[in-house]
Amino acid sequence: MMRDMGDPVPVDVSAEALALFADHGAATYAERVTMEHHARQAAALASAAGADDAMVLAALLHDVGHFLDQSDSEFGVTDHGAIGGAWVAARFVDAVSEPVRLHVAAKRYRCFVDPGYEAELSPASVGTLYLQGGAMSAIEAEAFEAEPFAAAALAVRGWDDGGKVAGLEIPSVECWRPLLEDPGLRR
Ligand SMILES: [Fe+2]
Repeated sequence: MMRDMGDPVPVDVSAEALALFADHGAATYAERVTMEHHARQAAALASAAGADDAMVLAALLHDVGHFLDQSDSEFGVTDHGAIGGAWVAARFVDAVSEPVRLHVAAKRYRCFVDPGYEAELSPASVGTLYLQGGAMSAIEAEAFEAEPFAAAALAVRGWDDGGKVAGLEIPSVECWRPLLEDPGLRR
């Protein structure tokens, strides 16, 4: 069951996050990699791109919403952007939580502005796209562009899309513990 957002946030957020990966990270949701590998790859891509710590942590946690509620399709939790964004926002600063909240919207935005983008998505991401409302309308796109963290969400979206390569050797989730424990990133 989804955690009540009114509950007090546990003090040991890094242990809580690592436990979520341990308990739920083996799911694949129709991708070629597990959710844990996907998160690790997204974080590694962010780090390799020179992203700041908040963005790397956002990449690591972008799909945490899949771990927080019951799957409603073979693709996991359709509303995982909002659910994960709320979980992250209760623990970390906006620079971490907002890209998480907006990474599904970023996909729908890219589909509106870039007609070739959908063809680059994984089959599972295309499957969820239609559950999530498909490409944005012009009015939705304008509202997305006005979001303070729109550019960050689009960057996380790129690492999300890129982080689905089977068989890569990449840093463990544990390697990112210093970011999970960084007081400068905490709420
Ligand atoms: Fe993802």
